[in-house]
Amino acid sequence: MTAHSSSIDPAAPLLLFDSGVGGLSVLGKVRHVLPEAPVMYVSDNAGLPYGTKTEAQIAARVSGLLGRLTERYRPRLVCIACNTASTIALASVREVLEVPIVGTVPAIKPAAAMTRTGVIGLLGTEATIRQGYVDRLEAEFAADKRLLRHGAPELVAAAEAKLRGEPVDTGAFARAAAALRAMPDGERIDTVVLACTHFPLLEAELAEAFGPGVRFVDGSDGIARRIAFLTEGQAWAHGAEGDVALFTRDDPDDERLMPALSRFGISRRLVF
Ligand code: DGL
Repeated sequence: MTAHSSSIDPAAPLLLFDSGVGGLSVLGKVRHVLPEAPVMYVSDNAGLPYGTKTEAQIAARVSGLLGRLTERYRPRLVCIACNTASTIALASVREVLEVPIVGTVPAIKPAAAMTRTGVIGLLGTEATIRQGYVDRLEAEFAADKRLLRHGAPELVAAAEAKLRGEPVDTGAFARAAAALRAMPDGERIDTVVLACTHFPLLEAELAEAFGPGVRFVDGSDGIARRIAFLTEGQAWAHGAEGDVALFTRDDPDDERLMPALSRFGISRRLVF
């Protein structure tokens, strides 16, 4: 759905939604193509992590929150910057909200075009890797390839710690690489889909763990292009106070995220 450009309030933000800091990997790309866009970044830190929850819990939580958020903040577009939430709840959220919604789905299609060995690794949350949505992407775009999936919840925690400037369990990177390498044909992986938005924030660490000859791909470039397309011709006006990160739980520890958030153009932390 595209909204008519003249009817859009220039201060209406793009709303990016994730369970935590993962959506910042998407925000970075969005800033690149739409530097003028006012942004509201929502972290459902009260619900983090999503990846270990059930489908029913995630679907109820995401559609309930997005319903209340869009009613209160009237964004011009919502980006579900989370693979777990998108692969489970995108269709149902689209059914109930009027606003255009862009989801984040595992970049299996570009990975299938990139691989030379025909063996692709996929790192996601435990909830994402078991989704029919991923089965369908595999059947459509990688039927002649081998797709090896691994759920790595500890990488979500690692990304959260890294962005807070806290110590990171560096063994998590080696364990994720070793789990994929240990699967049949795993030693031939040359392309890894980062199918959780937290993971591109750890790309350097993962690259070291996998060693040379492995390329990483995620959906953020495509999402940024899609958002630019859907908002083409719209006017943008920034509030004087700058962009906001909205958290669903008031955790004083999240103050430690402010240096990282400010690198993504976010200057204030609020609680929803
Ligand atoms: N960033 C989320 C994703 O893309 C998930 C992290 C979590 O487990 O909450 O899947």
